[in-house]
Amino acid sequence: MAAGSGRLNRQIIRIKTGIDGLDEALGGGVPSGDIVLITGTPGSGKTTLAAQVLVYGARNGELGLYFTLEESAEDIIQQSEVFYPDFRDLINSGNLKIVEVPLTDYESFKQTIISEIEATGAKRITIDSITYFQMFFSDTMSIRKAVIEVSTILKQKNCLGLFIGEIAYGENKLSTFGVEEFATDGVIELSIKEKGGLFIRAVRVVKMRNTKHLTKLCPMDITDKGIVVYPNAELFADT
Ligand SMILES: Nc1ncnc2c1ncn2[C@@H]1O[C@H](COP(=O)(O)OP(=O)(O)O)[C@@H](O)[C@H]1O
Ligand SMILES: [Mg+2]
Repeated sequence: MAAGSGRLNRQIIRIKTGIDGLDEALGGGVPSGDIVLITGTPGSGKTTLAAQVLVYGARNGELGLYFTLEESAEDIIQQSEVFYPDFRDLINSGNLKIVEVPLTDYESFKQTIISEIEATGAKRITIDSITYFQMFFSDTMSIRKAVIEVSTILKQKNCLGLFIGEIAYGENKLSTFGVEEFATDGVIELSIKEKGGLFIRAVRVVKMRNTKHLTKLCPMDITDKGIVVYPNAELFADT
């Protein structure tokens, strides 16, 4: 075998999402330092997936912060404890925190993120959703810059960052502003596909810097224990 370059041989530290099939699709987990856009249509499972990644960390001693820009903290808790019965316990024990972010201005938003991370030592961060950056700016270039700035903050603090994006029904794009996917290192798209009246949930790793990953649409399910991904199955198996 030819001697590999240092780049190829570089040891990649992977952060497990804790969703086994997704970690497999990612080649073992999210490469440390990558900031990931979780995007999809309404109801595709973005909040459930992001909460699950934080719960996995929280159960394993990595503090998680869930910044919610739309729903109340109580909404997120109620939705999540259906799947993760220890959700409230993890909050009460200080392993998980849901933070309602004021939507006054970007500087306050940014300071809230920084001060919460510094006060808690959080290692897994969700921002739900980036779409609300439109409250702060009137042009997409400013939004792109802000996404990059928040990404840089999370990287400097050595956090896994999950930014939730949104796709409107019927739109053939990956995000609201068309810039979020460029400003993040990875993109995971959730969707619901239809064939012959059959609807199947799917997840696809669109891009992920620093790793080889599956590119196929993987079947996914939302069960009573949360998200399950089947990387080795086909979406619509021929019958
Ligand atoms: N207890 C449950 N069991 C299975 N699926 C559920 C359950 N509760 C909600 N769902 C599914 O999860 C979807 C909501 O997922 P969510 O993560 O909130 O989506 P998004 O954040 O992308 O809008 C619902 O539309 C429903 O289809
Ligand atoms: Mg949601």
